[in-house]
Order: sequence, then C-alpha cells, then structure tokens
Amino acid sequence: MPKIVLFGATGYTGRLTAEALIARGAAPVLAARNATALEKLAADLGGAQTAVADVTDPGSVRALLGRGDVLVTTVGPFLRYGGPALAAALAAGAHYFDSTGEGPFIRSVFDRDDEARKAGVSLLTAFGFDYVPGNLAAGLALREAADAVRADVGYFIAGPGTSGGTRASMAGMLFERGFALRGGRIVPERTGSRIRSFDVAGRPRTGVSIPGSEHLALSRAYPRLREADVFLGLPSLAARGLQAGSLLAGAVARVEPVKRLAEGALERVVQGSTGGPGPEARARTRSWAVAETFDDTGRVLASVTLAGSDPYDFTSAILAWGAQTALDGGLLGTGALGPVDAFGLDALTAGVADAGFSR
Ligand SMILES: NC(=O)c1ccc[n+]([C@@H]2O[C@H](COP(=O)([O-])OP(=O)(O)OC[C@H]3O[C@@H](n4cnc5c(N)ncnc54)[C@H](OP(=O)(O)O)[C@@H]3O)[C@@H](O)[C@H]2O)c1
Repeated sequence: MPKIVLFGATGYTGRLTAEALIARGAAPVLAARNATALEKLAADLGGAQTAVADVTDPGSVRALLGRGDVLVTTVGPFLRYGGPALAAALAAGAHYFDSTGEGPFIRSVFDRDDEARKAGVSLLTAFGFDYVPGNLAAGLALREAADAVRADVGYFIAGPGTSGGTRASMAGMLFERGFALRGGRIVPERTGSRIRSFDVAGRPRTGVSIPGSEHLALSRAYPRLREADVFLGLPSLAARGLQAGSLLAGAVARVEPVKRLAEGALERVVQGSTGGPGPEARARTRSWAVAETFDDTGRVLASVTLAGSDPYDFTSAILAWGAQTALDGGLLGTGALGPVDAFGLDALTAGVADAGFSR
C-alpha cells in the first residue's frame, strides 16, 4: 500500500508537518537522521512508524520509498542537503513534495521535468508559504484576465519570526544567482534588481525581487506570459539594503575561492536545527500574497490578494493537504508541476483555504 514518508520530521517545520498530517488522519512514516529524536517525536505524537535516513548516505534515503509513495521532505538547506531526497523519489517512482524556498534549488527540480514524466511521478517543489499562495493568487488573477502578458506576485509578513533552518537556507542563497521571466524565457537576474510597492490590505508595502517558483510554474501553465516577478516584502530601507547586499554578494560570487570561504564562514555562524517561533508568536503573525496581472501597455488587468496566518503553520498544513491529496489520487499530471497545474485552481483554492489562506 502506498504511504506518505515525511523526511526531516525531527526539524522545526518537520514536526509541525507531522502534527498536521496526523491531524488530517494520515499515518506518515516519520524519517530523520537521529534515531533517538525520532523515537521521542513518535512517542510525543501518540505513536508512528519511524525510519532512520541520512542524506550523507543516499542509499538510506532511497530505502525509505517504494513505487507510488508520497515523499514530503523538509530537510534543508536544500542547496546543501536536498539532492538525495529528490533523486530517491525519482528512482523509486514516488511523488515528491518539498518545503524549499531556495530559487536555484527550485529551478533544479523543474530541470528534472522529463525524468519525472518518464518515471510517472509528480515533483512539487516549494510547496509551502514560499510559493503556493502566490501561484494560486496569480492563477486566479490570470483566470480573470485572459490576455495578460505580465504577472507580479508579492509576499508580505507582519510580525515574522524565523526558524534556524530558514535563516540557514537564506544564508546559503546569498551567493547564488537569481532568475526571472523575461520575454517568455527564464533568464539569470540578480536578486533585488527590482523594487516596487504593493497595496496590501490598504497599506503601501515595499517588495524586492527574488527568484520564486512562479516564474517557472506560471510560464508553463500560461505560455502567453512574457514577464513574471516575485517580490519579498521588506521595509523600504531593508529592501535597498538587500539590493546593495546582493550587488556585493554578486561580486564575491564571481571569485570562486572567495565565495567558498565566505560560504564556509556563513555556514558556521548561521545554523539550522535550532527551532523556530513558538505557538504564541505564530498566532500573532499575519501574511499576504498579492498578485497583479498586466497587459502589454503595463495596465493592471486583475489583482488578487490572499490573506492568512503564520507562514510555518501554513507550510505544514499545505504540505499535509498536498501529500494526502496526492496519496488519494488527486494529482492531475506528472512531471515538475506548479501548484496550479498539479491540482487545478478550484481544488487548490479549497486546499489553501483549508491551510489558512483565502481571499
Ligand atoms: N517554503 C517555505 O515557506 C518554508 C517554510 C518553512 C521552512 N522552509 C524551509 O524548510 C527547511 C527546513 O526548515 P526548518 O525550519 O524545519 O529547519 P530545521 O529545523 O533546521 O530542519 C532541518 C532538518 O534537516 C535535517 N537534516 C540536516 N542534515 C541532515 C542529514 N544529513 N540527513 C538527514 N536530515 C538532515 C535536520 O535533522 P535534525 O532534526 O536531526 O537536526 C532537520 O530535521 C529550510 O530549508 C527552510 O528554509 C520553507
């Protein structure tokens, strides 16, 4: 019988996802590298099947999966640790969901589209707050404006707390190249090259451009789109700071030995597996995804805002919904899919609402 395997279950987002899966009535196999932490987690959750696997031993990750299984992985930073889980899902013929927000890793998953089709599996990368609500908001805005050629998506958080894993992943991306959709093609583009303001729940908020999954997913689902941008909401001074920082990081990244030194130093300072915001802090957090579509003169054709709660609560709930829906046969295709392609606009709208985000 196909099963759900949750890899990284002992991490901050992994534990929230295990709780969300169990709350949905699923019986996931909890997998992680540390047997003691895993047994404690399973006992805390009232009992669950467990399996030990470590990305430094790819065979142990492959051994978690059989054909038709659904793998959910929260083992990150993904640029450092994500490869073995993706390879294991493709080799086993298992559907794949991950929680990454790292643009270059997301792109590497979309690059495995052909392999996934041949294996008869679906690859769902960035299936969390980054970047499910923005894909949905853009899909809804594109349904309202059939002749749009450009889409902008912005993500905004009020009262954010971040996990150690998120900070480690952000640090790991500092020297990586970004990308964007220009002229209908994915092209390299520096993170922070664009800054713009969005109206978010009646207030102007600044966003700075980042590589998301929307560029890749929307351009496949809506081939008429020529241009797409994803923006991360930041106070305007911080947005300018990120823009300047990314220019500097770009210069460092061009000198490979200096890049390796800087990455090594950052890796030692910014560590994962250090927990994240507690339930009270999460309960105070609010977030939004805004999508705007434009015609070729730059006129706004449609605008959709989805509002929700904490990004970690959303990520764990949507991963649980996606995995269970996939196990129940609710995937609409194979290959590297965006959230809209994978489930369709209506089912995804219902799933996202169930996970705490709605119009
Ligand atoms: N897209 C989004 O909106 C979103 C939301 C939440 C999180 N994320 C991303 O998801 C990832 C996890 O976040 P988090 O907050 O859960 O971070 P975390 O607490 O640091 O979790 C990282 C997990 O990776 C595991 N791990 C590290 N090295 C491993 C290895 N060699 N083999 C097997 N497992 C290994 C850790 O195991 P131990 O438990 O044994 O240390 C831990 O379970 C990060 O990349 C973060 O950016 C994205």
